[in-house]
Amino acid sequence: VPDSELQADTPISERLERWARCFDERFDALLRPVGETLPEIVEAMRYSALAGGKRLRPFLVTRCCELCGGYQEDALPAAAAIECVHTFSLVHDDLPAMDNDDLRRGRPTNHKVFGEAMAILAGDGLLTLAFELIAREMPPTSHATTIMLELARGTGWCGMIGGQVADMLGENHPSSRELVESIHVKKTAKLFEAACRMGAWSGGGHIGETGIAGGKTQSNKTPSNKTSDGVEILGQFGLSLGRAFQIADDLLDVDSSADVLGKSAGKDAKSNKQTYPAAFGVDESRAIADRLVEEAISTLSVFDSEADDLRDLARFVVDRRS
Ligand code: IPE
Ligand code: IPE
Ligand code: MG
Ligand code: MG
Ligand code: MG
Repeated sequence: VPDSELQADTPISERLERWARCFDERFDALLRPVGETLPEIVEAMRYSALAGGKRLRPFLVTRCCELCGGYQEDALPAAAAIECVHTFSLVHDDLPAMDNDDLRRGRPTNHKVFGEAMAILAGDGLLTLAFELIAREMPPTSHATTIMLELARGTGWCGMIGGQVADMLGENHPSSRELVESIHVKKTAKLFEAACRMGAWSGGGHIGETGIAGGKTQSNKTPSNKTSDGVEILGQFGLSLGRAFQIADDLLDVDSSADVLGKSAGKDAKSNKQTYPAAFGVDESRAIADRLVEEAISTLSVFDSEADDLRDLARFVVDRRS
């Protein structure tokens, strides 16, 4: 999205929405098979991936890339890849064997439309496509292998998938503050951390070359192995933000509605999930989320106004209504 179209006084919700719909056009083009396949799997994968969504993780990838001196174009493969992983996690999260939900992104869930077997395969297909996109679309001189490692770590048994396991095993157990915190870190915050680290690597990994990011064309920078300070700082930002984000998600489940959310509400309590409101109460949960947002923002102190988008996004994550 050209910066000229996004005035600084436009609310972040609107800036994000406009950016997301531009991202969708590029994402749509990447969600087409290279090679022969069956139309059924293409349809099922695209159904969930192109159903709207806030596109927070791709936005983080892109802004973190720019903060390390890269261009939006440099971030696109990693941005699309993490959205594929995220969508896979949603499709599987909604399955009858997991959260058993009927509504997602304002539409019937994948398995409601295509059946359980196809939904499992559509999730598998999206997860696989994520790594294909990075391997296929990133220049050979880039940090592609490192970016794949970051994505695998954020997603796998020590990351999102590990967190989903802990979430499942934690059902119907007395709520525990330590347990819910460790579930949140793994199932959600590690993917936010990965988004920021992947973005930073896409821009070269290093801060100190900011101010040149115009967000329009592809940079020809070869990877510098000098330092990865940008990766560490922005990764810290992503981790705190992800923790705040999942607390907000738990709070929305308590006090919002399916109409507004585009997904079920009020189900965490019914399913006896480990959530922040259950473990800490609503007020303390909100206070902790706010504190985590301030913590996230404070990690950005090395940046000037070029990081204002991320600061605004951090506040949006806990103030959002959906
Ligand atoms: C929902 O994520 C799943 C969680 C990790 C809580 P989002 O709220 O980012 O979902 P979309 O992408 O906007 O649909
Ligand atoms: C899911 O957490 C996080 C994922 C890894 C998908 P939730 O189960 O709370 O997500 P929603 O509320 O269904 O989006
Ligand atoms: Mg779940
Ligand atoms: Mg769920
Ligand atoms: Mg939830």
